Amino acid sequence: MTPPTYFAVEYAINPWMDVDRPVDARVAQAQWEALRQTYLRLGHRVDVVEPVPGLPDMVYAANGGFIARDIALVARFRFAERAGESAAYAEWMSSLGYRPVSTRHVNEGQGDLLMVGDTVLAGYGFRTDRRAHSEISAALGMPVVSLELVDPRFYHLDTALGVLDDHTIAIYPPAFGASARDQLRALFPDAIVVGSADAYVLGLNVVSDGLHVVLPSAATGFAAQLRAAGFEPVGVDLSELLKGGGSVKCCTLEVF
Ligand code: ARG
Repeated sequence: MTPPTYFAVEYAINPWMDVDRPVDARVAQAQWEALRQTYLRLGHRVDVVEPVPGLPDMVYAANGGFIARDIALVARFRFAERAGESAAYAEWMSSLGYRPVSTRHVNEGQGDLLMVGDTVLAGYGFRTDRRAHSEISAALGMPVVSLELVDPRFYHLDTALGVLDDHTIAIYPPAFGASARDQLRALFPDAIVVGSADAYVLGLNVVSDGLHVVLPSAATGFAAQLRAAGFEPVGVDLSELLKGGGSVKCCTLEVF
């Protein structure tokens, strides 16, 4: 996780961002700290990445890359505003002993790349370039399922799909193209389908350890669905970070 020390909405690269709407950096910091404490309370280890001045979106650590099976892929960002984050995340990966690998095409890390069991679900349409998917599959030696995103509000896969355990996902179907919806239905017939009210507070932007699902507290309908399915929802308020278009998962780069 990267603290929101320099968080601000200084440019708008997704429909959630409004440069005229003020952001309270102190509130953002307190909300972020509450998320970190939630992970610690659940028994997870949290590494903190050094924030860099001038990179206000660095708090969305999920986008920094993808780490699995001793391979650390570093992000290549779509927009110049975030390009400087790659070096910062590569440096952090190196400090952990990885040799970070880059892709030729745009990949926005775990924003668009989500691991379910032994498969990577990969979004394209707004940020990650579809051509990066095969690069990623080759680098990791894992199958990648390419899924088209069609609604700009759900510009990263992790805004429209949440991984709950090795074979369970939750989705907001209107965010996907028809063939992506078909593929998801075939692969995950029992997926939890969330409603618009939950999707529009980024309710699917979750981190799950297979039992506890840390999610935005405003997603109350989804929390009830999770409970009914045997998971334990843990709500956190990240309203200030929602102004940049991110929530729980965006603020968290998981290491598998
Ligand atoms: N402002 C950031 C952007 O538009 C938000 C990134 C959210 N991260 C995520 N994993 N969806 O790039």
